[in-house]
Amino acid sequence: MKLNIALLAGDGIGPEVVDQAVKVCDAIAKKYNHEISWKPALTGAAAIDAVGEPYPDETHEICASSDAVLFGAIGHPRFDNDPSAKVRPEQGLLKMRQKLGLFANVRPTFTFPSLIDKSPLKRDRIEGTDLIILRELTGGVYFGERGRKDDNNTAFDTMTYQRFEIERLAKKGFEMAMKRSKKLCCVDKANVLESSRLWRETVQSMEKDFPEVEVSYEFVDATAMRLIQWPKGYDVIITANLFGDILTDEASVISGSMGLMPSSSVGSKVSLYEPIHGSYPQAAGKDIANPLATVLSAAMLFEDLDLTKEAEEIRRVVNKSLAEGMVTEDLAEGGTSYKTSEVGNWLAKNI
Ligand code: IPM
Ligand code: MG
Repeated sequence: MKLNIALLAGDGIGPEVVDQAVKVCDAIAKKYNHEISWKPALTGAAAIDAVGEPYPDETHEICASSDAVLFGAIGHPRFDNDPSAKVRPEQGLLKMRQKLGLFANVRPTFTFPSLIDKSPLKRDRIEGTDLIILRELTGGVYFGERGRKDDNNTAFDTMTYQRFEIERLAKKGFEMAMKRSKKLCCVDKANVLESSRLWRETVQSMEKDFPEVEVSYEFVDATAMRLIQWPKGYDVIITANLFGDILTDEASVISGSMGLMPSSSVGSKVSLYEPIHGSYPQAAGKDIANPLATVLSAAMLFEDLDLTKEAEEIRRVVNKSLAEGMVTEDLAEGGTSYKTSEVGNWLAKNI
């Protein structure tokens, strides 16, 4: 297969981890006879520095005309403590999600046999966890009306949802549940928020179309607790943008490291693959960041193109690297650790 993949390395550790995923994908392409043409493009703080804009039109053109987008991370500390900054790297990410129509963010949570004891949670609670949080990504409070009033002394952000936005996300959730253990949990705050009541009403009205799926409804505060108490109780969770942002960081604790968790963002056109971790500026340029979340995101990319063998091969070498201790310092527990680039080279060689 011929593949055009847009390559958005972004900020911080983004370029280093993306480099390793490229090595792995190139090794897969060689082994399985594919031809990958990488299309690098600017995004985030790197793009602000170069052209004054975190998601330039040229980058959008490249993404929109590719078969998939592989993305590193976005964010730079020089913007974090400057509330007056007019352009922020994160705006690039939001603009990209919106312009590419990436309304569903798929964030799986699973455990790695060799890493169970890395998690701060007890083994019997987490072993065998296999759940997916499907986060709405182009609506809600991230994109609602916001502003200041009363002479700048009042600030507001609005959580707005339209029925069709909930429906298309929920439909993906139902379909995903059908392929898995047929359990769907809608997470909201319907005891307080009107937008959540629309979520519940909409999902309830869709239940009849998927009679085999067992649907449950939970308030997000309760889910925050149950998710780490008994993650095995969940299969597919659907939730709004902000709730999903928070719950997916929490869920990464189950796997033992944020450095391991991949994601995909899908919509009507091209899909995007990225690690759920951020730009980790403290580690940028040091060749110490864990590349596995990005490598596993590339596995999701192959999977979505129905290249299942290729995806499985990537997961196989990742598991092998973990089992054999070919890991970066975050997973080494004081033992021998390897550089980001060494882990990437090892993975590519083992494919
Ligand atoms: C994420 C991140 C982003 C978000 C930030 C960087 C804007 O936290 O992808 O989860 O809040 O969506
Ligand atoms: Mg987040």
